[in-house]
Amino acid sequence: MMVSLLGLYGCQAFESLQPLPPIPFEPSAKDISYVRDVKPVLDRTCIACHACYDAPCQLKLTAAGGVTRGASKDVVYTSARLLNASPTRLFIDAQTTAQWREKGFFAVVDDSTDNPGRSIDNLNTSLISQMIALGREQPLAPHSRVPEDIQLGLQRDNQCPKLSEFDRYANEKPLQGMPLAITGLADKDYQTLQNWIWQGAVIDEPPWTRTASRCSGCASSMRAMRVPFPAPKRGAILSGRPTAGTSPSSQPVS
Ligand code: HEC
Repeated sequence: MMVSLLGLYGCQAFESLQPLPPIPFEPSAKDISYVRDVKPVLDRTCIACHACYDAPCQLKLTAAGGVTRGASKDVVYTSARLLNASPTRLFIDAQTTAQWREKGFFAVVDDSTDNPGRSIDNLNTSLISQMIALGREQPLAPHSRVPEDIQLGLQRDNQCPKLSEFDRYANEKPLQGMPLAITGLADKDYQTLQNWIWQGAVIDEPPWTRTASRCSGCASSMRAMRVPFPAPKRGAILSGRPTAGTSPSSQPVS
């Protein structure tokens, strides 16, 4: 029994220690900025898919907080779920990377302090580097049909591989690097992302916080939109006439 258990664990440990092939890239002397250089690339090429609450692997690339939060294997909408699940709304249900890790999210850019500054190891330990390198290795021809074995749509069965599982993902799904199912990244964009990660994936923008002042204009903008509160009676909507007491100007807006 003991021997077989050791065998199992030994095998798992060995699998996760397999070095991934080196990531091809051209080191740049220029400092890459997340705000100036990286975010525009993510906005242009990734957020068509990685933006919603149920983005693949819950990886939201629309904000720096989503990049540092990383990915999760948990599916947010599933009809098979019998019990309530804790929501995972970015900026709301957890605030720090450590809190997201407790909720099962794992890094897509190396966030350990093992390799400060420029380091090739940052690339090997970042899922974004691995995924875009795979996409570059096996590019889809422009203006061609998406290969049959790339499943798209809401029923897609995502793997959301962790780093230790990436080798298997790349072997089983060689055409499914990122960006998925579209013509790959332009060389300049690829180099920008890889150089940013090589340089330590620094986020050069202040952390997003919710403050009262952010919403100071909310009441006035709701008034400007003339949102009736509470909702007018049904007859009033149909006749187009406001019911007494539901005029936006006479209602408190909170
Ligand atoms: C057409 C939709 C689409 C686009 C565009 C796209 N992705 Fe993805 N991405 C996916 C899907 C679907 C998966 C899940 C793949 C799987 O695990 O089977 C995924 C998975 C990932 C993962 C792996 C997460 C994990 O858990 O291992 C990373 C990292 C990633 N994408 C980064 C990017 C980046 C960076 C871009 C832009 C350069 C991008 N993606 C563009 C659909 C897309």
